Amino acid sequence: MRTDTGQVFHLEDYKPTDFLIPETHLDFRLHPERTIVKSTLKIERREGVALDTPLILDGDELKLESICIDGVALGDNTYVVTPDRLEIRGLPEAETFTLEITTEINPTANRQLTGLYRSSNVYCTQCEAEGFRRITYYLDRPDLLSVYTVRVEAETSAAPLLLSNGNPGEKGTLDDGRHFAIWHDPHPKPAYLFALVAGDLGVITDTFTTASGRPVNLGIYVEHGKESRALYAMDALKRSMAWDEEKFGREYDLDVFNIVAVSDFNMGAMENKGLNVFNDKYVLAEPDTATDVDYAGIEAVIAHEYFHNWTGNRITCRDWFQLCLKEGLTVYRDHEFSADMRSRAVKRIAEVKGLKAHQFPEDAGPLAHPVRPRQFREINNFYTSTVYEKGSEVVRMIRTILGAETFRKGMDLYFERHDGDAATIEDFIKVFEDASGEDLSQFALWYDQAGTPNLAITYDYDQATKTFEIEIEQSLKPTPGQPSKKPMHIPIQFGLLGTKGREIRPRATKGGLVKDDVIHLRKRKERFTFSGITERPVPSLLRGFSAPVTMTSELTRSDLAFLARNDRDEVTRWQALTQLLNSKLTSNSKRVRGGKPATIESSSIRLLGELAFNNALDEAFRALCLNVPSESDIARELGANIDPEAILGSRDALILAVAEAHGEKFEQLYNELEHHGAFNPDAAGAGRRSLRNVLLDYLSVADGNPKRASKQFKQANNMTERAAALNVLVQRFGTSTATNDALQAFEARYGNDALVMDKWFVVQAMQPGESALGKVNELMKHQLFSLDNPNRTRSLIGAFSSGNQTGFNRADGKGYQFFAETILTIDKKNAQLAARLLTAMRSWRSFEPERREHAREALASIASVAGLSTDVRDIVERTLA
Ligand code: PHE
Ligand code: ZN
Repeated sequence: MRTDTGQVFHLEDYKPTDFLIPETHLDFRLHPERTIVKSTLKIERREGVALDTPLILDGDELKLESICIDGVALGDNTYVVTPDRLEIRGLPEAETFTLEITTEINPTANRQLTGLYRSSNVYCTQCEAEGFRRITYYLDRPDLLSVYTVRVEAETSAAPLLLSNGNPGEKGTLDDGRHFAIWHDPHPKPAYLFALVAGDLGVITDTFTTASGRPVNLGIYVEHGKESRALYAMDALKRSMAWDEEKFGREYDLDVFNIVAVSDFNMGAMENKGLNVFNDKYVLAEPDTATDVDYAGIEAVIAHEYFHNWTGNRITCRDWFQLCLKEGLTVYRDHEFSADMRSRAVKRIAEVKGLKAHQFPEDAGPLAHPVRPRQFREINNFYTSTVYEKGSEVVRMIRTILGAETFRKGMDLYFERHDGDAATIEDFIKVFEDASGEDLSQFALWYDQAGTPNLAITYDYDQATKTFEIEIEQSLKPTPGQPSKKPMHIPIQFGLLGTKGREIRPRATKGGLVKDDVIHLRKRKERFTFSGITERPVPSLLRGFSAPVTMTSELTRSDLAFLARNDRDEVTRWQALTQLLNSKLTSNSKRVRGGKPATIESSSIRLLGELAFNNALDEAFRALCLNVPSESDIARELGANIDPEAILGSRDALILAVAEAHGEKFEQLYNELEHHGAFNPDAAGAGRRSLRNVLLDYLSVADGNPKRASKQFKQANNMTERAAALNVLVQRFGTSTATNDALQAFEARYGNDALVMDKWFVVQAMQPGESALGKVNELMKHQLFSLDNPNRTRSLIGAFSSGNQTGFNRADGKGYQFFAETILTIDKKNAQLAARLLTAMRSWRSFEPERREHAREALASIASVAGLSTDVRDIVERTLA
């Protein structure tokens, strides 16, 4: 584990390397505890670099065995080595020379899951961002591209499968029960894209022929016996490959594309060139084990990693400050892919929900940072929803501003101009400026200014002149290191609705720039005047959620209800409904604990019913409408002085009121939606199930007993319906026998299936109220629980701390105390995981004073420990700052 040195890295300190490594040869003699890595590097001194300039390589917990230059062992006085650095002086005068370094590493002891480690006896690597330096001393930075040849050798019986990047080469058996394979990757790449996998795994294979006729062998490697669970991932992979050709003109560029699923992985998956390594959660699915959400996640992550082949691998990042260059863009691409595979509006609403649930709070709290940060202490802490999801929104805005056609021209230019480069955000913006002839310098502030802009909007209609005026004022609060902000270029897609929802086309506009259906807000305060408007319109703003902003507008409740009923843009309909419900939910949540919530207006209840029963609408959309704002949505809207118990009460009161008003029709619909045929994970099937499952919750609340959920739990022929029923049982009837029976039955059936058991831990970690902490403590002692496995840790500790509002944020602070102790334990094993989990406390300042003080104490207790990892030290100090 790297402990904190206090070092801060700055974007403006970027300097190219003095040396290049055009060729990298790696030879791995795999052994569980003593793996020998021999690295042979062709080193080239850059022109103009002084001959006495030392070569300084990165390491991390390394042990040097030997070092030679041009075949001659180096004398002790010509180099200085520590576990994290190798400095070589007295280099040959020749422009190029060969450096040979041998290190010994212990994959079994590696619990950080970066570098070379073992997961269920499979050797695998994870090198992004700085894991390669845990394998051998190297120039471990993304702008150092090299052509890799890798020889992997292992015991044949333990590791019949030997994989690395690129195309397969020579293979052979050795006489001591070992064998080897050689892999060559012709595409120069940075070290973070290196990968190696060796072990005993099952496989499914397929082929894909690219548009220009290159046959590609596809392989997905999984635990023996789970092959059939990889078929959906394979299908998603082939669809991704075809889609990238069709939508972006991008073809695959090697003879093989392999994916390996492992069960111990810190993140979702990794785009290593030609050899993606996946958290098995994003590969394995069968109707009996995976929910619709799991299927959609697999489709998205498979696509995401595949798309990185061009956005990330062929064109990589100059330095880690540019992380959003590959991540924001690739998220944008996977969002578009999923939108094309499923319902675009439903997908977009899910994205908006995710953005608001994760990125907005990040932007509003102590961990706020720009999409492209300018400084960091630990890069691992910047794989954030700001870099990924807001980064994707910024790309989407470029398309909204320039139009789809010009956007595509810019992308083509990007691929043409920067193929093989380690590029920057400036390069990315420049291709769109060149493709469009427009100046995007103001727009580029989106990469630099942290925080979520708010738009304050006022309207004025003048009957006499038939003009409608919209005035918009943007504001952006200070964020860490950024006390004042400049006005941004914000694209606001819009429409004006007349009677019956008819779209009104303005004759002309004056004031700020309006192009087609987009208002371009560029000043701090700007007015847009539309003429030829014959009746007072209801404006529909931010259609498609065209910019990641919040809005305060003077729309009345009846305007909002009108939009929810009539707008042609489903995202705006959903937003209008949410705003209507939120205003009631938040005002009720401010009431003193135990007080009786204000009555919910019957008009909102009627509206919810209308949307739920409207057969013309997509079932998935109707389900999204019925899924009223969550406890954390309401907390975010409140922003300060949060009392989670009051929020839970106010939300439950709304659900009960809606359930009582529509009970009979809900029941009828619930019964109609029952499906007897075979399970299909497509959008239509998933939509039907999501609507039915949200109805189950309403009906169970109205019934006041667990019978219906119990019945669904027992009869379900798929995990989506089974898990939803279990969720209702635990959330609504936590202590009932029916709930206990279901939990036991689930455990008996799936006890051997780690991914499914993760769901069992999650559902219990989320049980509302003060009793959750006792439950979590009890589950930590369960024989299937272990802090060594990231998925399992996230399913209990992660779900509890980031998902259970009332359980984690107990008024007595015991949830925080428990969490702080657990974080310290995890930090010693897996610092990245500990730091990520700890971000659950980033909104601590928005709680009411009592909880806030308990949270501060818990954070301070972490900060006071000596020898924290750099990862946790960085998060805890920024959170407290
Ligand atoms: N680059 C991976 C992605 O596709 C995420 C990742 C980062 C995985 C760091 C492992 C380590 O988003
Ligand atoms: Zn990515």
